[in-house]
Amino acid sequence: MIVTVLGARPQFVKAAVVSRALIEHKITERIIHTGQHYDDKMSSIFWRELGIPPYEINLNVGSGFHGEQTAQMLIKIEGYLLDHRLDVKAVMVYGDTNSTLAGALAASKLEIPVIHIESGLRSFNRSMPEEVNRVLTDHISDLLFCPSNKSVQQLKAEGIQRNVFDVGDVMYDAMLTFSKISDPNILDNYDISLTEGEFNLLTIHRPSNTDNYAHIKQIVNALGKIGSRFIWPLHPRTRKVIAGFKLDIPGNIIMVEPFSYLEILKVLSSCSKVITDSGGMQKEAYWMKKPCITLREETEWTETLANHWNFLAGSDESRITQAIKMNIDPSTWEPLYGDGKASLTIARIIKEFLSN
Ligand code: UD1
Repeated sequence: MIVTVLGARPQFVKAAVVSRALIEHKITERIIHTGQHYDDKMSSIFWRELGIPPYEINLNVGSGFHGEQTAQMLIKIEGYLLDHRLDVKAVMVYGDTNSTLAGALAASKLEIPVIHIESGLRSFNRSMPEEVNRVLTDHISDLLFCPSNKSVQQLKAEGIQRNVFDVGDVMYDAMLTFSKISDPNILDNYDISLTEGEFNLLTIHRPSNTDNYAHIKQIVNALGKIGSRFIWPLHPRTRKVIAGFKLDIPGNIIMVEPFSYLEILKVLSSCSKVITDSGGMQKEAYWMKKPCITLREETEWTETLANHWNFLAGSDESRITQAIKMNIDPSTWEPLYGDGKASLTIARIIKEFLSN
């Protein structure tokens, strides 16, 4: 069997399609939930809505300083792996969160092969916790699945060439799979207007924005001056920060609870533009052919920057304003990050890997 370590919201979405593909390939999977995300809107709703196979244990690690959070996961994952050592053939992790690093490190120390999905991404900004998690995880992984040729080349430049595969992005698989089954009226019960083309979608959760008063204030000011409507589902971190800073939010920015995955797909397909500091949302905006303004100075998903489909605006008021006014030529859109069948390719390669 393989053990998958999940903990944060975007990992639940990715697992939803990969776990299905593993079942199709008759690979036994046991899931550990680290408990990094624990609110219903950040965790349980995804398991219910997306039909992710139930997790075997929840480590209930919760929030904390990064070292403390990662260390607690490490101790508990190691305990689980020691108890099941004879059965575990590999440990699989996704992306770049603290749960990713903890799972990879626990396995690597026990000489259990590590499978990393979403390998080879780099922002080259080591002040991001995710960048450190990605680099370390890639360097202790045994089977590495990349979303693009560029990420394969990055790994090569770092001396990692064995068992590296360009398979595309499983988030694209998820978007295609769940867009098909989603109820088109899913947002009808909301008491806010989400009429197609009459709003923009805003998300902010990176510490570089939320933990810096000047940054978040500038972002909100810029959007306030634009005047069009922004729907802002609030990550719990951001909600706490807004309250703590006593930030005044202009009337055209409407704050709501986090959306579920099926809801956010509908919101994405209906909005005009996306303003975000999330990695996943930059790609989802691209696949939905919505212009994206990224509230960061750099991105791992550099392919999306071509023809200004994605524009790096940082937290700078004038760059944000300029980017939102920009017009994109729809004819410049080209497919990126695979064909929507990444999870099946991954499952096939894992099957081969385990039988060797
Ligand atoms: C984590 C990942 C980030 C990923 C994001 C997806 C790391 C270092 N960061 O960031 O890469 O993009 O998940 O959402 O692993 N909180 C709650 N309820 C929850 C979860 C969090 O209230 O269910 C609050 C807590 O105050 C917590 C804060 O949010 O301290 C931050 O949570 P944490 O899991 O540390 O990081 P994220 O910002 O969610």
